[in-house]
Amino acid sequence: MRRPKKIAPPKGKLGVLLPGMGAVATTFIAGTELVRRGEAQPIGSLTQMGTIRLGPRTRMRSPRIRDFVPLDRLENLVFGGWDIFPDNAYEAARKAGVLDREQLEKVRGFLETIRPMPAAFDRNYVRKLDGPNVKRGKTKYELALQIREDIEQFRKATGASRLVMVWCGSTEVFLKPQKVHQSVTAFERAMKENHEAIAPSMLYAWAAITSGVPFANGAPNLTVDIPALVELARKHNVPIAGKDFKTGQTLLKTVLAPGFKARMLGLAGWYSTNILGNRDGEVLDDPESFKTKEESKLGVLEYILQPKLYPNLYGNIYHKVRINYYPPRGDNKEGWDNIDIFGWLGYPMQIKVDFLCRDSILAAPIVLDLVLFLDLAQRAGLRGIQEWLSFYFKSPMCAPEIYPEHDLFIQLMKLKNTLRWMMGEELITHLGTEYYD
Ligand SMILES: NC(=O)c1ccc[n+]([C@@H]2O[C@H](COP(=O)([O-])OP(=O)(O)OC[C@H]3O[C@@H](n4cnc5c(N)ncnc54)[C@H](O)[C@@H]3O)[C@@H](O)[C@H]2O)c1
Repeated sequence: MRRPKKIAPPKGKLGVLLPGMGAVATTFIAGTELVRRGEAQPIGSLTQMGTIRLGPRTRMRSPRIRDFVPLDRLENLVFGGWDIFPDNAYEAARKAGVLDREQLEKVRGFLETIRPMPAAFDRNYVRKLDGPNVKRGKTKYELALQIREDIEQFRKATGASRLVMVWCGSTEVFLKPQKVHQSVTAFERAMKENHEAIAPSMLYAWAAITSGVPFANGAPNLTVDIPALVELARKHNVPIAGKDFKTGQTLLKTVLAPGFKARMLGLAGWYSTNILGNRDGEVLDDPESFKTKEESKLGVLEYILQPKLYPNLYGNIYHKVRINYYPPRGDNKEGWDNIDIFGWLGYPMQIKVDFLCRDSILAAPIVLDLVLFLDLAQRAGLRGIQEWLSFYFKSPMCAPEIYPEHDLFIQLMKLKNTLRWMMGEELITHLGTEYYD
């Protein structure tokens, strides 16, 4: 891939389109509005708080990322979305119960203006939910065309000059990649024939890509991670990324596992269990939706620890992930990890992690960063899979001939080096011999 010659400056408004206006989406929208009013800090957002070192350490150049690359400003963001429930963003945020009432009231008027468009929804893919705000159409293709009309309507109504779409909808049932996912022609025919391998999230992705809108997938569904849509994205010069926001337990897993491996400590087992009581937890109570999530969560250790390279350390790991729906906790998930490691001469040790986290508080800044970085990528002329955004995902998309990179620190290095590369700055290798000549 060639380095972008010129990155077009962000002019006009940037429209953010969110299929699924539940806990994550409304926490992101409300949070962005609170930050731009100066009422809160964008904590957890690399684009807003992160810095990037440029050149040798003697120069002490570490600008903020947002001052180094031409990212759009929060003031220019406008929001829209779809949901099967007709609640406006204020009502949806109240129901999600993530942000406290006092904070939400400050942005109530703003949130009330954001009303979800009718969703392309099918209960066969999210069995625990049903709602009235849905589109009608004879074929999946018709529904996708309706989404495309919504996109154009939104563009006109807001006057946005660029758009980005991030799937914040529920986790759909597990789907394996199939023949109809292999080419654009087969995929579009399957949409017209109502093929069961075409899930609603794929219709949004198709509509976004064919409208020239970058797309990120925050859930573990296949969605855009199929050859047909990757090919389509390249054809339409659209950057895409996915899948499944890396937030609580998996974030910690991708911090701890590289540490064990760095010190050549062995791993016998990793038992992870979660209790959560939000709508996402309810959807994941369905075994088919859970399977999609489970696959996404399980892959991480295998790729980080490379058991084939280290059979004595990681060749026999018992890895289990459970998610239990437990309503009293709402969005405040508790994730327990019991980790059985072993050291010198094989002596066993245990680590217990109890993360009392807040799911949507961890996910919202990821949505913000993805919106800003995908828009940047498009203005820089990048298209197809944006592997440098792996940092944000549990199951990062990558080229078919390579394996995904899960180690959070390698992911961060890759992300920052990509920004340096885009801007024509020297890459940082951490070699550092020049300081000792
Ligand atoms: N930390 C996190 O919160 C986190 C981390 C990783 C992934 N995710 C994923 O992000 C997604 C959103 O999480 P959430 O906590 O906001 O869930 P949520 O249940 O609060 O919100 C999802 C919304 O999507 C809507 N929806 C479902 N199918 C739809 C469709 N076809 N079109 C439009 N809307 C649709 C639902 O009605 C619901 O309001 C989930 O898939 C979740 O697994 C969340």
